[in-house]
Amino acid sequence: MLPQEIIRHKRDGQRLPAFEIAAFIEGVTSGAVTDGQVAAFAMAVFFNGMNRDEAVAMTLAMRDSGDVLDWSDLPGPVTDKHSTGGVGDNVSLMLAPIVAACGAYVPMISGRGLGHTGGTLDKMDAIPGYASQPDIALFRKAVLETGCAIIGQTADLAPADRRLYGIRDVTGTVESVPLITASILSKKLAAGLQSLVLDVKVGNGAFMEKSRDATALANSLVEVASGAGLKVSALITGMSEPLASAAGNAVEVRNAVDFLTGRLRDRRLEDVTLALAAEMLQSAGLVSSNQDGMRRATETLASGRAAATFARMVAVLGGPTDFVERPEKYLPRAATEVAVKAPADGFVTGIATRDIGLAVVGLGGGRTRPDDKVDPAVGITRLLPIGAEVQAGDALALIHARSPLDAEAAAATVLSAYAIGGSKPPADKTVIRRILPRG
Ligand code: URA
Repeated sequence: MLPQEIIRHKRDGQRLPAFEIAAFIEGVTSGAVTDGQVAAFAMAVFFNGMNRDEAVAMTLAMRDSGDVLDWSDLPGPVTDKHSTGGVGDNVSLMLAPIVAACGAYVPMISGRGLGHTGGTLDKMDAIPGYASQPDIALFRKAVLETGCAIIGQTADLAPADRRLYGIRDVTGTVESVPLITASILSKKLAAGLQSLVLDVKVGNGAFMEKSRDATALANSLVEVASGAGLKVSALITGMSEPLASAAGNAVEVRNAVDFLTGRLRDRRLEDVTLALAAEMLQSAGLVSSNQDGMRRATETLASGRAAATFARMVAVLGGPTDFVERPEKYLPRAATEVAVKAPADGFVTGIATRDIGLAVVGLGGGRTRPDDKVDPAVGITRLLPIGAEVQAGDALALIHARSPLDAEAAAATVLSAYAIGGSKPPADKTVIRRILPRG
């Protein structure tokens, strides 16, 4: 069938049968469908949506556009997590080793920063020598020997998504629930998972700021993943303040190492990490209840086994063998450090989280163009959480910058992102809701 006929059907609000979707996606992969046709198709889906069957067909067609990894030689369940992204969200760096140390295998294929949000892949690249884009043999070796490997997407996994995403990015068609769903899940299915936990963020630092939108995306992801044969659940978690007290690349890696070794555990980060770990262990069939999962994850973290797993993963993938013992020896440090001072006595009553992420991008820790090089050393640490009591002149945060000028600009952004008020605000829930497939 001609691509323009398939586009017409969706333009006119028809439901597309699986074979039409498969034919269109095949054309996206082979190049038989032009950029203009891909854009028109994406816009037709943006306006007319897709039902669950169409979204499942689209997800499976995109999964099958490239290699699908096979982990059937592994002696345990294969599982992963996907987060819709936020600021100070370094959960993956702790979650993968915690869950792996509990007996699951976590081949975690992660992405680069997008807009104001950080990317796990950029964070791992801050570790000298770490092969964040290894060949498949080294990826398999790391997963088999350590239980987890955090790496970037290879060109062979879901290539249709790569092309479609690039076109959506420049045609105003990113924010479509079925297109986001198929994009995320096709890559996860191509990674050969048996189960998946989704962390859908909501709040002023998330892509979905409103609860209604986050819930719609979580429902779509859970229903389509389940329809495509994955065991799946989702947590909706709060992103109305940075999750860790650090935002940036090397600084978030340092924060993760400190979390694993017990030197520093930011409370909200710990809540989300353990809740996701419990969820992953349960959907992987390693524990019989969520409570049991929480207990196993907490014990594994406290025993130091998760820290040891992270250390082995870093070493197998080419990083320093003593990275966890001496992260300060290896992580790059920015030339300038400047404290952001509280302007008045009171409590932190709110944080414009997106602006904190944009301040990191402004420092050079994220990208404004796809081919920008990220500076791993810059970022922000000691970010005070909502509810913290301060006196005028206390540090709200510490900026790590390449130059005093950059530091000044970031400090001004962070200062205006913090609201200070006279009374302590009630604590927000970190884990807001759990979503399971219907039926
Ligand atoms: N992340 C993805 O991988 N795809 C989307 O469409 C949006 C976020």
